[in-house]
Amino acid sequence: MSQVSILVTGGAGFIGSHTVVALAEAGFRPVIIDDFSNSKPSALEGLRQILGYDVPCYARDCNDKTTLLEIFRQENIRGAIHFAAFKAVGESMAQPLRYYHNNLGSLITLLEVLVETGVPDLIFSSSCTVYGEPDSLPVTEQTPVQPAVSVYGNTKQIGEEILRDTAAASDALRILSLRYFNPVGAHPSAQIGELPLGIPNNLVPFITQTAAGLREQLTVFGNDYPTPDGTCIRDYIHVMDLAEAHVSALQHLQARPAGRHYDVFNVGTGQGVSVLELIRDFESASGQRLNYKIGPRRSGDATAVYADATKAREQLGWTARRTLREGLEDAWRWEMHLRQP
Ligand code: UD1
Repeated sequence: MSQVSILVTGGAGFIGSHTVVALAEAGFRPVIIDDFSNSKPSALEGLRQILGYDVPCYARDCNDKTTLLEIFRQENIRGAIHFAAFKAVGESMAQPLRYYHNNLGSLITLLEVLVETGVPDLIFSSSCTVYGEPDSLPVTEQTPVQPAVSVYGNTKQIGEEILRDTAAASDALRILSLRYFNPVGAHPSAQIGELPLGIPNNLVPFITQTAAGLREQLTVFGNDYPTPDGTCIRDYIHVMDLAEAHVSALQHLQARPAGRHYDVFNVGTGQGVSVLELIRDFESASGQRLNYKIGPRRSGDATAVYADATKAREQLGWTARRTLREGLEDAWRWEMHLRQP
């Protein structure tokens, strides 16, 4: 049987590149489109090292409908996973139109192409950011979505609404939004991983860069939260577990009857971990002492967010298998790989 070709937009990025590996390992044929605005071609070399062949890649903007139609035809695309988006919260507040145009424009363009070509299946990268500061924990898919506090977060909420409405009007479309919690780690081979441009916004790349000597010191954003040690709690999920959730989601869609299907799934581990706990786990996993200090809160941070991932386990047959320690070991191995002369 010939392999099913799946378009991975943003496939050279952090979560996208790991999902390319998971798709290939599950017998799919991933095809990448990435404009390399927030990723590097070295990810393709990493994929070649892991998979042993070149993954087809189009260095193009997926806002370009003509290009997308051409790729769908040429590569016989049968489904899509849409990662391509800007993701820096602070930047999104300074450049709202750039974020709305890129994140929502590319989604609408991709949906138009799916409708025109009759390709049914789409998986969308959403975020636990849609839950804001939740009233109760852990968050289930029924936990109310809160008004977004950032333009970035709003692009995810509006994206979910666009998908719900479009799926409801289509006899063909089957769409899932995956609400990611906090992805960490790298492929254990250290051939692919996170490549933050400039100063990292996210905790784990900031930690690994500090331990590697690129940054002077980590600032813990607040220790006066109402949590056991005063620091914020998050659900850190290994990026390969997250990648595999996309494969399970795709297989779930393929097994469904055609049309009018839209659903959302939390993709997290179910474990809440504080910033100080994560620092201790990193020190133990890497054998490095981390230079850090306690600073003021960062505006927009929720006190605690972690997933109830029961729905994904029951309906997708997916559950996170890797530990946080493995994630931190892999993140550190990747940082060391980047620093090799
Ligand atoms: C952030 C975004 C979220 C996005 C996600 C993508 C914000 C407010 N939220 O989530 O919308 O979907 O990234 O990965 O930006 N921390 C420190 N010091 C640091 C960096 C982080 O103490 O230098 C703390 C934060 O206060 C937070 C935790 O580490 O408690 C995780 O932060 P981060 O990695 O930025 O993720 P989120 O804020 O959860």
